[in-house]
Amino acid sequence: LPRDLDLGSLGFDRGAHVLVKHALHDLEIGDRLRVVGTSAELPVHLRAWCRAQGHGFEPGGQGGDVVRGAAEAGRWKGSERTGHPDPAREGAVVPHPPGRWGLAARGARVEAGGPDFRFGLSAKDVVWAEEIPRLYAQAAAAQWDPAKAIPWDTPFQLPDEIEDAVVQVMTYLIENETAALILPAKFAGDLHPHFREVMQLLAIQAADEARHIEVFTRRAVLRKGTPGLSTVGGQASLKTLLDEPDFALAMFLLSVLGEGSFLSLLWFMRDNAPDPVTREVATLTAQDEARHVAFGLAHLSRHVGLHPEMRGRLAAAIQERHAALQQTAGLNEEVFDALVLLAAGEWDPEAIGRGHDRVAALQQEMGEGREKRLRRLGFGEEEARTLSELHTRNFM
Ligand SMILES: [Fe+2]
Ligand SMILES: [Fe+2]
Repeated sequence: LPRDLDLGSLGFDRGAHVLVKHALHDLEIGDRLRVVGTSAELPVHLRAWCRAQGHGFEPGGQGGDVVRGAAEAGRWKGSERTGHPDPAREGAVVPHPPGRWGLAARGARVEAGGPDFRFGLSAKDVVWAEEIPRLYAQAAAAQWDPAKAIPWDTPFQLPDEIEDAVVQVMTYLIENETAALILPAKFAGDLHPHFREVMQLLAIQAADEARHIEVFTRRAVLRKGTPGLSTVGGQASLKTLLDEPDFALAMFLLSVLGEGSFLSLLWFMRDNAPDPVTREVATLTAQDEARHVAFGLAHLSRHVGLHPEMRGRLAAAIQERHAALQQTAGLNEEVFDALVLLAAGEWDPEAIGRGHDRVAALQQEMGEGREKRLRRLGFGEEEARTLSELHTRNFM
């Protein structure tokens, strides 16, 4: 026996299909729904709707019988299920999501015949790591408010040259953080949204860098009103990062080597900060950087694990960058001297000597950190040391 649906005077011009759909919902394929109503166009509209949706139709009376079709008929014929929202599920994240899945939520059913999007980063092997959903959740939970997290109003008094040294280091940090914002933002725009958690992590990493640029700028201009010096060597080093079109190579140079070295630098700034504002700025930014380094290591170790030949390309990227920067000065003297003075704390031969030793120890620590991370990517001890030593003198 067919079920009955009386639409009254409601026509397809005012939403009758919503009621028809609802009535069909519980029916099995092949079951009938008798639809009646007083709208003059009802039989014509009902027939057209049934054809579009893949249901059978038999006219009769003031409406007709709808014979429920297969779920995948009509508009949804040829549609595809796009993985699953939970990345931990088997098959949730596919190796090569097609461009036609476009911007759809992962796990959504996508209608056939949609536009073909061109995402340059659409291979799971290149972008994915199991740790990424957790790293994104950590990043989202760890967002801090620059206005409240830093004690901007705490009174402190610094000798003029110490303040200048802080301003110079902040100025240097800002341009490096700017490169660190541009890279993840650029790759987020080229990434297939099927890799939702990677997209989210790249976006929140860019947002982290936006905050870093803000707090370094605020500290730079806190007393003197203007930033310090920007050098050719520093900018040349950063330009090689922005010029690297390959995601894996760019993120290797930026995160594993550059941000890894910056971790040591920010800890140095925290430990040698001459004032509470600088100390807090360095402490909070270092916490974020540790996550950025973890992200880089996570996707790259998965990548080289699947494709060991990738190691040769990573090594070549370091060597090429080294060759490109050989004629530049690397770290500017002004930043180096500022770090020495901050570690010394005063103008006294003994203090300056101590400060110089600390900066040398910092550079040593940076090098060891790079070696350790290169070892984690499977490089041998000897190669890790050689490659670490070829890293830009600009640190980032
Ligand atoms: Fe940063
Ligand atoms: Fe960073």
